[in-house]
Amino acid sequence: MTFLFNSDATRGAVFARAFADALPGLPFSMDPATVDPDAVRYLITWTIPQDLARYRNLDIVFSIGAGVDQFTMTALPDHVKVVRMVEDGIVRMMQEYATLAVLTLHRQMPAYRAQQAEIVWRALPQPQAAERRVGVLGLGVLGQAVLDRLKPFGFPLSGWSRSPRRLDGVTCFHGADGLDAMLADTDILIVLLPLTPDTRKFLDATLLGKLPRGAALVHTGRGPQLDHAALLDALDDGRLSAAMVDVTDPEPLPADHPFWTHPKILLTPHVASITQPESAAQAVIANLRRHFAGQDPVGLIDRRRGY
Ligand code: NAP
Ligand code: GLV
Repeated sequence: MTFLFNSDATRGAVFARAFADALPGLPFSMDPATVDPDAVRYLITWTIPQDLARYRNLDIVFSIGAGVDQFTMTALPDHVKVVRMVEDGIVRMMQEYATLAVLTLHRQMPAYRAQQAEIVWRALPQPQAAERRVGVLGLGVLGQAVLDRLKPFGFPLSGWSRSPRRLDGVTCFHGADGLDAMLADTDILIVLLPLTPDTRKFLDATLLGKLPRGAALVHTGRGPQLDHAALLDALDDGRLSAAMVDVTDPEPLPADHPFWTHPKILLTPHVASITQPESAAQAVIANLRRHFAGQDPVGLIDRRRGY
C-alpha cells in the first residue's frame, strides 16, 4: 500500500517529512518511474496522469488544490474516491484576498489609481461599509470563511448556494429565484463557485445585468465561469464600476488581451489562494486516518455533481 505524490518536489519534501512522522507504516513515493504501480492506493496530483490505468488498485485520488475541475473524471474508475483539498492555508489566503479585494473596491482604489495617472487630487464621495452590500456566490468552505472574515467591517452580507443554508449574520439565498434576489441587492459580488457544467460561462451579460448600476466584481472562482466580453461591456458602459479578477480563461491571458490594460480591472495571476504544504500534508494525513477508520474523507467529491 503506497501513497504516490505527483506534484512539485519542494512541496513533496514537506509531505514526505510529515508522512514519515505521522504515518511511518505507509510507504511514500514521489517517483512514478520507480514506484510499484500495483502498490499505489493513494495518489495526490493536480491533473490526472495519462498513465493512470497502471494504478489498478487505486482507492483515492486527492487534488493538490481546492478545485477538481482540472480532473478528467471519466478517466477515473467509478469506485475511486476523489477528494479536493480542504486545508487551513488555502482558507486563510482566500480570506486575505477577498478582504483585500472588497476593501480595494469599497474604498474605490481603481478610481483613485486612474486619478493618480492623471495627476488629479480629488476626494470621491465615500459610502460607508453599512451601505455597501457584499454578496458571495458559493457558500462552501471558502465562501463561508470569506464571509466570516468580512463580518467585523460591517458590510451587509449575503450569499448564494445550490441548497438552502443558514449562516449567522448572512442573508442566504439559493436556487434561481434566490440568485436574482441576491444580485439585485449586491454592490460587491465575490465568486467562489466550483467550475461545473452548470457554472461554465455563468457570469454572463444576463447575470451581470442583474447587479445594481455601479456594482463591482471579484472573480476568484475559475476562469471559464466568466464571459470576458460581457465584463468588458458592463465596465465600459458604466453598469459595473470595477473588477478584481484572479482567474481567467486562458491562463495566462495573451499579451494583447484587454484585461491587461483596462483601467477598471485589477488582474492577479491566479494567486488568490495557494495550497500550503505544511497544513495540506496534515489535512491529507487526517483524511487518510478517516479513511482507515472507515469514514468519508473531508472534501469528498460527489462525482455526479462535479464538486
Ligand atoms: P465547496 O466547499 O465545494 O463549495 C462550493 C459552493 O458552491 C457550495 O456552496 C455549493 O452549493 C455552491 N455551488 C456549486 N454549484 C452551484 C450551482 N450550480 N448553483 C449554486 N451554488 C452552487 O468549494 P470551496 O472549497 O468553497 O471552493 C470553491 C471554489 O473556489 C473552488 O472550486 C475553486 O474553483 C475556487 N478556488 C479558487 C482559488 C483561487 O486561487 N482563485 C483557490 C481555491 C479555490 P451547496 O452548498 O448547495 O452545495
Ligand atoms: C486553486 O485555484 C485551487 O484550486 O487550489
